[in-house]
Amino acid sequence: MEVKKVAVIGGGTMGNGIAHVFAMNSIPVNLIETKQEFADRALSTIEKNLNRMVKKEKITDGEKVSTLDSIEVFLDVEEGVKDVDLVIEAVPENYDIKKSVFEKIDKAAPGHAILASNTSSISITKLAAITSRPEKCIGMHFFNPVPVMKLVEVVRGLETDDETYEATEAAAKLLAKVPVPVNDSPGFVSNRVLMPMINEAIFCVGEGVATPEHVDEVMKLGMAHPMGPLRLADFIGLDVCLDILKVLYDGFKDPKYRPAPLLVQMVDAGKLGNKTGEGFYSYD
Ligand code: 3HC
Repeated sequence: MEVKKVAVIGGGTMGNGIAHVFAMNSIPVNLIETKQEFADRALSTIEKNLNRMVKKEKITDGEKVSTLDSIEVFLDVEEGVKDVDLVIEAVPENYDIKKSVFEKIDKAAPGHAILASNTSSISITKLAAITSRPEKCIGMHFFNPVPVMKLVEVVRGLETDDETYEATEAAAKLLAKVPVPVNDSPGFVSNRVLMPMINEAIFCVGEGVATPEHVDEVMKLGMAHPMGPLRLADFIGLDVCLDILKVLYDGFKDPKYRPAPLLVQMVDAGKLGNKTGEGFYSYD
């Protein structure tokens, strides 16, 4: 099955990036949001990121215009998914919200359509079980910033069939991404490895071992990471990091995944990183 048209549900950081890369690779996108103002914000972020690419001479002005023209906004999930081959859900990392989206898309999307989730840690098998087509459900886990990061973790649920995997892998390749197959397991591979590192960095700050700046300097200069773990945690969102750690902790029942108390406190205080202007660092 060839993916010729996609629907992206949610225009937040990940959703607008996913819409951006499909549209830029000539695959029409139905971008679904709950309110016009959220859709407008997503489109203006995409335009800003396309302008940056024009400025760096990675795409032409004409390609920018045709990318924006390939994105159509919908405020109704059922309407937005009814003529697509692939639906990618990118709504907040909360099982109940995703459950209601999967119920709707299963009813409204064509029978042949693949239902994918960009979840960073929720079980694909559990999301698939909500639907009448578990064999067509899969994880398509992109990385932020989506236009830049090459990886797509393609997560197979217990019942995902080979045809669905192959079509999803081919769609990722169309975007010039590198799909990596992973089986369904808490945090998949990416967040199972990344989040304990971020959590440990937060323990270091909480225990007074070093300042956020110094922890980040150690990892940037000593391990050649492009961003230190605390700057990266701010970039991902401290609430998202905490949610993922809770999924790991609940999934494995292993204390090594317990969230650092400082992380919990910062989330309670509403210091979520870049998106709220304050986390381990301050942002304008
Ligand atoms: N859209 C398009 N292009 C973008 C962009 C965007 N949103 N953001 C950055 N770029 C481009 C820039 O134009 C620049 O292009 P160039 O190489 O041609 O000059 C390039 O990316 C680098 O950007 P900058 O020069 O502005 O800044 P940096 O060199 O500091 O790089 C970064 C920024 C790419 C974000 C880099 O710091 C990085 O790779 N950080 C790590 C990001 C990471 O680990 N992401 C994964 C997070 S985990 C995740 O998403 C999964 C989830 O489940 C938690």
